[in-house]
This record gives sequence, C-alpha cells and structure tokens, in this order.
Amino acid sequence: HLTPQMEAKNSVIGRENCRAKGGNPGFKVAILGAAGGIGQSLSLLMKMNPLVSLLHLYDVVNAPGVTADVSHMDTGAVVRGFLGAKQLEDALTGMDLVIIPAGIPRKPGMTRDDLFKINAGIVKTLCEGVAKCCPNAIVNLISNPVNSTVPIAAEVFKKAGTYDPKKLLGVTTLDVARANTFAEVLGLDPREVDVPVVGGHAGVTILPLLSQVKPPSSFTPQEIEYLTNRIQNGGTEVVEAKAGAGSATLSMAYAAAKFADACLRGLRGDANVVECSFVASQVTELAFFATKVRLGRTGAEEVYQLGPLNEYERIGLEKAKDELAGSIQKGVEFIRK
Ligand code: NAD
Ligand code: LMR
Repeated sequence: HLTPQMEAKNSVIGRENCRAKGGNPGFKVAILGAAGGIGQSLSLLMKMNPLVSLLHLYDVVNAPGVTADVSHMDTGAVVRGFLGAKQLEDALTGMDLVIIPAGIPRKPGMTRDDLFKINAGIVKTLCEGVAKCCPNAIVNLISNPVNSTVPIAAEVFKKAGTYDPKKLLGVTTLDVARANTFAEVLGLDPREVDVPVVGGHAGVTILPLLSQVKPPSSFTPQEIEYLTNRIQNGGTEVVEAKAGAGSATLSMAYAAAKFADACLRGLRGDANVVECSFVASQVTELAFFATKVRLGRTGAEEVYQLGPLNEYERIGLEKAKDELAGSIQKGVEFIRK
C-alpha cells in the first residue's frame, strides 16, 4: 500500500505536471477500442509518443489488462484505463485527441459495408460521448466503413450542436502507407515515395494519384493498373491472409499512430503538417472526400484540391464518387431517420 505522501506523488496530475517540465506540450489522448487488435498496438505506440502526457485507454472488455501492461513502459505518458459504458465519460473528459478503432473487423468474403449494421451504432454512442465530454477534441475515426462512419459522426455532432468539420478526420493513412510500400516493386524506396491517395476508404473509392507521386516517376499502363488494384485491395489482401482472424491491425496501428502524431504536431503549431484524410470537403460535389489536408492548431485547417488528373484517374474518380455518394447518404440517414 502507498502512504498518503506516496499517493500524492503518484497522483495523475502530480505525475503529469512533473513530466510536463521537460518542455513537453502534454496532449491528452483517448483511444476508444483500446483492447482490440488495432487498439493494443496503437496504445503501445501512443505511449511512446513524446507529445502525449496523458493516455486514456477505453474498451468494453480487457481495458484494465492492456492498461496495466502498457503503463509499465518507462516513457512519459501517464496511462489510465476505463472499462465499459459507465466509464466512457471519465475516459473522454478533458481530451485533446480521441482515436476511435472500436468495432468489428471484416472476415473473408465481407465488404466493409457489411460492418455497417454493428459499427454504426458503436460509433454513434462513442461520438455522443465525445460531444458531451470533449466537444473541442480532434477525432480520428478508424472504425469501418469509414465512408459512412465519418458522416455518422458528423450528424451526431450536428445534433449535439458541437460540429466543427475541421476536427473530424477519417483515417485513410493506411492507404497511403500501402501505396508507398507497393511502389517498391517498381524499384522505389517506400521511405522516399509519397503517393497521394484520395476519395474514400473502400474498394474503388480508394483512388491513388500515381501521376502526382513524389519524387516524380513515370509508370507504364500495366504498372499503373497493377498498383491501383493492389492499393484498392490491400485491406482484402490482409483479410484473406488472416483467414478469418480479422483484418489489418499492425500496419493500421502504425498508420493511426503516424496520423495521430501529425494531428498533435498540428495542434502544437508546427508548420506544413500535411496528410491525406477523409474530411468534410468542397473539393467535389460530395459532402465528404479524402484529399491532402493541412493540420494545424484547430484541426484540418486547409483542404487541398485534387490537382491535375490524367484520363485513367478521371475515370477512377467518377467510379469513386458514385460509390461514395451512397455510403455517405447511408451514414447520414442512419442518424436522421
Ligand atoms: P478488434 O475486434 O480486434 O477490436 C475492436 C475493439 O473494439 C474490441 O476490443 C472491442 O471490444 C471494442 N469495442 C466494441 N464495441 C465497443 C464499444 N462500444 N466501445 C468501445 N470499444 C468497443 O478489431 P480491429 O481489428 O481492431 O478493427 C477495429 C475496426 O477498425 C474495424 O471496424 C476495422 O474494420 C477497422 N479498420 C479500419 C482501418 C482503416 O484504415 N480505417 C484499417 C483497419 C481496420
Ligand atoms: C484495411 O484497409 O485494412 C481496413 O479497412 C480493414 C479492412 O477491412 O480491409
């Protein structure tokens, strides 16, 4: 047992204050679904992020175990665990960034839209909690189908009167990570390549803009076809390889941690923090669309235009928009009806 003096030194606020002395801006981050496949690795990676001073791990199962485990890492962030709906509000109060990987994953033969029935309700409940307890937090939404869960979250926030489009970001970073990685087969180094991926996060809505790759590279029509198909089906490639044991978790945790870090650097005021994300947008006629966005102190402060597209990409864009329109509508109606 701790003595009262030890209790005081060990209080979350005491430990946070002590660690903030290192010049760390000390952001407060919650992960909802922290005990899941993505959630556990993401908790580990966020515990390693020096910009995080307080890490709240929430889940409806196993949160205490994951919290005890991660809290033994000798990095700066103070970790607290929250289990079950009764503790959701405590998990969210005071947070600067809320990352949501809660929800069921695909099995072989399923589309992301097949997850809608269960995940729509989960995202709705969690976003109601965000609206109530940390309405100014940035939200990184990972739960699928992202093309519908982001519109669901927007509608929940609108209903609560807290909606700030700049603060709601659908996470599509894994599509970019895959695009950069798969370009390896053409002799490019994934560390040096940057392929913008726009549209959404499912099948044909995932639209890599290979004509805009940096450093500028040219591909044959066959190479473009191969890369586009592989990027669009990257999630299914993992689902099939895992053969019923779930979908991408490790690469996703990596991508989510990278995106969250970009959001925190934006919050800190760093210049030129640019990532692709599925956000409220006026780039097309659709209410939501993924493009490059600039992250700043208030979230996605600038949503970039698509830039010049070639004929192949223009055809892809029309296909992506057709499917996206239905997915967005489905999410909106889930809350409005
Ligand atoms: P998982 O089943 O391993 O983990 C999900 C976790 O969510 C579980 O621990 C579960 O208890 C928890 N959960 C369920 N209902 C909850 C609730 N109401 N509140 C809090 N937590 C709750 O699944 P996973 O592999 O981690 O995937 C999670 C989601 O992320 C899936 O929907 C998956 O499709 C999606 N995903 C998205 C991307 C992307 O690029 N955006 C990539 C991979 C996976
Ligand atoms: C992915 O792209 O890996 C995720 O969206 C999970 C899935 O179902 O494919």
